[in-house]
Amino acid sequence: MNVVIETDRLLLRTFTEDDAPLLYELNLDPEVTRYTLDPMTDIDHARKVLVEVILPQYALYNHGRWAVHLKPGLEFIGWSGLKYIHERNETDLGYRLIKKFWGKGYATESAYSCVQYGFKKLNIRQIIGRALPGNVDSIRVLEKCGMRSVGEEYIDGLLHKTYQAINPAVHQ
Ligand SMILES: CC(C)(COP(=O)(O)OP(=O)(O)OC[C@H]1O[C@@H](n2cnc3c(N)ncnc32)[C@H](O)[C@@H]1OP(=O)(O)O)[C@@H](O)C(=O)NCCC(=O)NCCS
Repeated sequence: MNVVIETDRLLLRTFTEDDAPLLYELNLDPEVTRYTLDPMTDIDHARKVLVEVILPQYALYNHGRWAVHLKPGLEFIGWSGLKYIHERNETDLGYRLIKKFWGKGYATESAYSCVQYGFKKLNIRQIIGRALPGNVDSIRVLEKCGMRSVGEEYIDGLLHKTYQAINPAVHQ
């Protein structure tokens, strides 16, 4: 297990291709993909997302979406992490947990640690977070991570609320 971040209750590690079943099961729950609108069709689909989207980010940018495990038993609870979006030249904060792990502060604990890692270890200048207006739990996570609202914008034809955190240690 290649652990990247450790918090009080969680470990964040890099995904591997072998995690396709975990990723598929996470996305099987329609409540989990209700606002992300990206259900997976089968394990091969999950493997394709890992190989083509998630894993390349680690090599290219030294960050990415990381698998989140609960200490001390190391149960997989979802993912959290940063993603560089080339078309917009920005680093995006994202998170997604299995439903039984919602409402325990794990999303915020993992997401906050990713923001701090991005700022302190990677010297990223600013991190963006986006959520559909109805995804109030996600918006709360962004706010609890210290991000501030910078307005609304259409992404892929859907209105999103956009949040931003600026690295206090990096001069703009
Ligand atoms: C978005 C998502 C990750 C939010 O998860 P969450 O569990 O609601 O978020 P948090 O980790 O902040 O936990 C929330 C609650 O846990 C509670 N909690 C319980 N124990 C806690 C503890 N020890 N520490 C902190 N909070 C705790 C808090 O009261 C908090 O609620 P509050 O903010 O109203 O006070 C989750 O709904 C999800 O996975 N959704 C599907 C995927 C998705 O939509 N992702 C975002 C796309 S933009």
